[in-house]
Amino acid sequence: MKLFIDSADIREIQEAKDMGVLDGVTTNPSLVAKTGRTFEEVAQEIVEMVDGPVSLEVLATDYDGMIREAEELMKYGDNVVIKIPLILDGLKATKTLSDQGIKVNNTLCFSPMQAMLAAKAGAAYISPFVGRLDDISQDGMELIDTIVQIYSNYMFETEVLVASVRNPIHLVESARMGADVATVPFGVIKQLMKHPLTDIGLQKFLADAKKTPQKG
Ligand code: E4P
Repeated sequence: MKLFIDSADIREIQEAKDMGVLDGVTTNPSLVAKTGRTFEEVAQEIVEMVDGPVSLEVLATDYDGMIREAEELMKYGDNVVIKIPLILDGLKATKTLSDQGIKVNNTLCFSPMQAMLAAKAGAAYISPFVGRLDDISQDGMELIDTIVQIYSNYMFETEVLVASVRNPIHLVESARMGADVATVPFGVIKQLMKHPLTDIGLQKFLADAKKTPQKG
């Protein structure tokens, strides 16, 4: 499963990149706003520092505006993926851009049929938001399971990109279900490496090593 970071914070992205496990980045207007920097500055830096796909989101909610914005966003670099919300005009824009070979990430997906239409329109990625479904007492991971199954039944090539990830269990389940990608906040990426038995085991090894000095 590919691992993207869900962030617009340059330091977080750099740290995740240094860990050697980063395959791409997703941003959204809320994440960019949190940085307190301009969209242009942030987008340019991220696109240049990451080799993998970087999702940049359109703000327009009408077809023409989305297409215009997508053309501007593509100028940041070859690895830009246009993030488009799953509304009717978004679906039309997805079809137009995908037909031109431009990669689209359909965001704000909350149902299996939204995901199926996105795939039919040619989206490169579908982003179902699992955490936000859990927040309203619906099962976010069940949606992933259903979409993975539908895509496999009809051999859709759209990649399932698990979004709104809140904890490591979401990732274990995503990998078990065969999702293609998960986009993960930096805090959760760090959590993935934590295990109390690893820390306790290391302390014990280091304490015992003092008893039998070892060179090198
Ligand atoms: C997806 O690409 C979104 O940026 C993101 O995962 C939303 O997560 P949230 O529900 O934690 O805001």
